[in-house]
Amino acid sequence: MNQTKLTLTSKKPHTFCGDLLVFCVQQNKKGKVTATRTFASKELDNAVALGDFKADVNDSLLVYSKKGIKNTKSAKRILYIGLGNTQENSGNELRELCRNIGGTIAKQAGIIKAGSLYLNLPAISGMAGKDIAECLVEGVLLGDYSFLKYKKEDSEKPSFKGITKLSVYSAKTINDLRQSLRLAKATANAASVARDMANEPGNGWTPASFENYAIELGQKYKMSCTVLGKSQMKRLKMGGILGVNQGSSEAPKMVVLEYRAKNKKAQTILVVGKGLTFDSGGVSLKPSTGMEDMKYDMCGGAAALSVMAVVGEEKPDVNVVAIIPATDNMSGSSALKPGDIIRHYGGVTSEIVNTDAEGRLILADALAYGVKKFTPTCVVDLATLTGAVIFGLGHHRTGLLGNNQSLIERVLAAGDRCGEPLWQLPLDKEYSKQIDSDVADIKNTGGRPAGTITAAAYLQKFVGDTPWAHLDIAGTAWDFTKKTYIPKGPSGTGVRTLVELIRNWKNLS
Ligand code: BES
Ligand code: MN
Ligand code: ZN
Repeated sequence: MNQTKLTLTSKKPHTFCGDLLVFCVQQNKKGKVTATRTFASKELDNAVALGDFKADVNDSLLVYSKKGIKNTKSAKRILYIGLGNTQENSGNELRELCRNIGGTIAKQAGIIKAGSLYLNLPAISGMAGKDIAECLVEGVLLGDYSFLKYKKEDSEKPSFKGITKLSVYSAKTINDLRQSLRLAKATANAASVARDMANEPGNGWTPASFENYAIELGQKYKMSCTVLGKSQMKRLKMGGILGVNQGSSEAPKMVVLEYRAKNKKAQTILVVGKGLTFDSGGVSLKPSTGMEDMKYDMCGGAAALSVMAVVGEEKPDVNVVAIIPATDNMSGSSALKPGDIIRHYGGVTSEIVNTDAEGRLILADALAYGVKKFTPTCVVDLATLTGAVIFGLGHHRTGLLGNNQSLIERVLAAGDRCGEPLWQLPLDKEYSKQIDSDVADIKNTGGRPAGTITAAAYLQKFVGDTPWAHLDIAGTAWDFTKKTYIPKGPSGTGVRTLVELIRNWKNLS
C-alpha cells in the first residue's frame, strides 16, 4: 500500500528544503513556454533558449541549481514538468492530463530516488483548483506504486521506498483543497490495495485471503461480513462455485461485505467481483504460454473489495454490498468435466461445455444469491471474463453490457471522468440463443462468435429484472493502455469507476 504522507502547505516554494521541488510549465497558444516569475530559473531559461525543454506534455527538466529559486538555497533539485498547451483540452481530458502529469512526476522522482516532494499546483484555465489538486495528486500516488515484497532487499530491491512525503502548495487559497487530497488519497490507496492483491501469486492470494481481508475491513469500519464456506454453499445449492472448485484442494469462499448507510431509505448497490485466484482452465486446460497471468483472474474481486475500504471510510448515502465468489480453477481428479451438468443457486441448470468458462459459473451463484438476499436497486459486476473482449476492444477500454440504459450511462460517465474508459456492447435477445442447451436450461459457452456478449447473456439469466451492469475487465485489469500513472502489472481498474459511481450516487429511478 501507498505510504505517502500528504500535506497541504502555505509555505512558499523557496522555503522547501526536501528532495524535489516540482513546477508545472505550460505553453501558450503559439506553443511558447510560459514561465512565471515565481518559478523561473536561469537553468530553465537556458534549456528553453536551447530548445531542450519545450514544455510539451510530460516533458521534464531536472535542475540542480546552486541558487535554488529566488536566489535562496533550498530544495536539492527542481523538476519542471511540461503541461503542453492546456487550452487545447477540456473537462475529462484535463483531469486525465493531470493524472498523467502526476504519474510522470512519480516516475522522475523514482529515478533519482527523491522521497520528499513539494508540488506547486499550477493554475489551468477551464479547470477548478480542487480538481487540479485531486487529479495531480492521484496521479502521483498511483504512479508511485511498486510491488517489491518478493524481491531480495539488497540487490534488486532498492532502499528507496517511494515517495514518503508530498507537500502540496497553492498560491491561491482554494476551498476544498483538503478534501481534494483526501479523495485522491482514498482512491489511489484503494487502487493500490487492489494491485497488491493481484500482484500476489496464486499461492499468495487465496480465497481465504479474500475472506481475511473482508473480515478486517468489516471490523475496521463496522460493516457486517459473512463468508460462506463449502458446507453453506452446499446447503444453499450453489452448484456453480462448488463445481468450479471441485478440482481444487483450496477451499472456496463466498465473501459478503455489507455497508449500511445511516439513511434508512438509502438505495442499495450490489457489487459482485470475480475472485478466481488462479485459472488453469481446469480439464479444458489453457495453453501453458502466459498461463502465469491467470493469477490476475481475481482482479474483479480485488476491485470490489478494495472499494469497500473507501466506502467504509467515506460513509456514502447509499448502501453498498460487495460479494466476491472466490476459488481457483484447477484440474484435480474430481474436477468438473465437459458434459457435466450443474445446478446453480436458484435452480437453473447448466451444461458445462468448457471448464475454462468458469467465471460465469461462480458469478451466476453470486448474482442470484445477492439479488435474492439483498433486493438491491442495481447490480454492478466486474470480471476478467473473456479473452474475446481483448479482440474487440484491446487493452484500452473495459467492455460494458447490461440491461438498464440509465445505469449503463452512469457507469460510462464515471469511467470517463476517472480515466477508466468503457465501451458498451449490445446484448440483444438473439445472442442468448447461442447458450441454449439440448440437455440443460443453458450451457456455459456460446461458441466463438461474440464471446463477450454470450458470457454476459449467461450472467443476465441470474439478475432478473434488477438493473445490472457488467464490466468485462479482461483487457484492462493488466496490460492496460500505457499510462504514466499505471505501472506495468495489474492496473486496479474498476476501483476508480466504482468509487466515482458511489461517491456521487443519485437515486436510480
Ligand atoms: N479468465 C478467463 C478470461 C481471460 C482470458 C482473461 C485472457 C484475461 C485474459 C476466462 O475464465 C476464460 O478462460 N474465458 C474463456 C471462455 C471460453 C472458454 C468460452 C475465454 O475467453 O477463452
Ligand atoms: Mn477460464
Ligand atoms: Zn477465468
